Amino acid sequence: MIDNIVQVTHIDNVRIGDDEKSVVIIDQSQLPNRTVYLTLRTPDEMYEAIKLLKIRGAPAIGICASYCIYALARQWNLTDYAAFRAEFHKNKEYLNSSRPTAVNLSWALNRMEAVVNGNSEKSVTEILDLLGKECRAIHMEDIEMCLKISEYGLSLLKDGDGVLTHCNAGPLATSRYGTALGPLFLGKERGMEFKVFADETRPLLQGARLTSYELHKAGIDVTLICDNMASIVMKNGWINACFVGCDRIAANGDTANKIGTSGVAILAKYYDIPFYVLGPTSTIDMNCPTGNDIKIEQRDPNEIKCKFYSEPMALPEVKCYNPAFDVTDHSLITGIVTEKGICRAPYIESLAKLFKA
Ligand code: MRU
Repeated sequence: MIDNIVQVTHIDNVRIGDDEKSVVIIDQSQLPNRTVYLTLRTPDEMYEAIKLLKIRGAPAIGICASYCIYALARQWNLTDYAAFRAEFHKNKEYLNSSRPTAVNLSWALNRMEAVVNGNSEKSVTEILDLLGKECRAIHMEDIEMCLKISEYGLSLLKDGDGVLTHCNAGPLATSRYGTALGPLFLGKERGMEFKVFADETRPLLQGARLTSYELHKAGIDVTLICDNMASIVMKNGWINACFVGCDRIAANGDTANKIGTSGVAILAKYYDIPFYVLGPTSTIDMNCPTGNDIKIEQRDPNEIKCKFYSEPMALPEVKCYNPAFDVTDHSLITGIVTEKGICRAPYIESLAKLFKA
């Protein structure tokens, strides 16, 4: 079991298998009750692990997918470049179709494919070595980005602050410190105390199962609330800032994150509480002009009706609408905290500047 701050922030949620032909993940769908490691070997096992949220959180999905495509490529025993490239593309497209909203998935897979496409003069053996380096680089860069985001995020907080968060954007969703939770871990290491309110995050309970687990294990004061209690804790004056993660940020700053995030932002505006989005630049999609262009994943209605209940909580005939994400309008966002600094409105300019730099 993960039992202290060092372990929580250095958790190996995803890694390449020792044989370099498999990927090992913590099955997040079983937390917090069981810490189970899964070894993924086939394309279907990999696809399913992402689809069923055994590995989840935008950066972690990207890292996992890059290890997966590398592990698969090691299994093929192909020496002909054209055949290798075609097989790579087919498998990449399959993994990429597992979830649509988090841009990190296609971002990481495209980076891997660029290695194949850009080295046609090399042998497949050499390309495999380059692919091994690339997926490890994607992972290492994420560790560094999370640490920098945590530093910038911490600069927005003072000792004793109350922070509300939604979903899970901690070590399990990323690597090491996480994004939205990173400043809290870093502050705790430096002797600061925070009072964190974690939305349980219906219907899949990432806040209850993962965020409250990670924060509690790190010795951070965390109080779990149902999503519909965010307004009262804000009204009570217990929240100084909202910190959330992101799955895709459009060029104008509109941000897709776990369903319910936009409601938190609207409440924060009403109560005059700063609302910050924290995420790496790999989550910013400059090819996506606005939030209207972000594809929102629709999920199985039974996640609402049945999952986590001992018997169904609605009649089988009752219709469900189960979008996994919503888009927070850029006008509700106080700042977007990246590894390159904190962007402020107008985001169309500040985000473009990040990429030019
Ligand atoms: O469906 P999930 O659990 O993958 O959704 C995750 C989120 O919405 C996170 O807030 C987001 O990916 C940021 S993770 C640093």
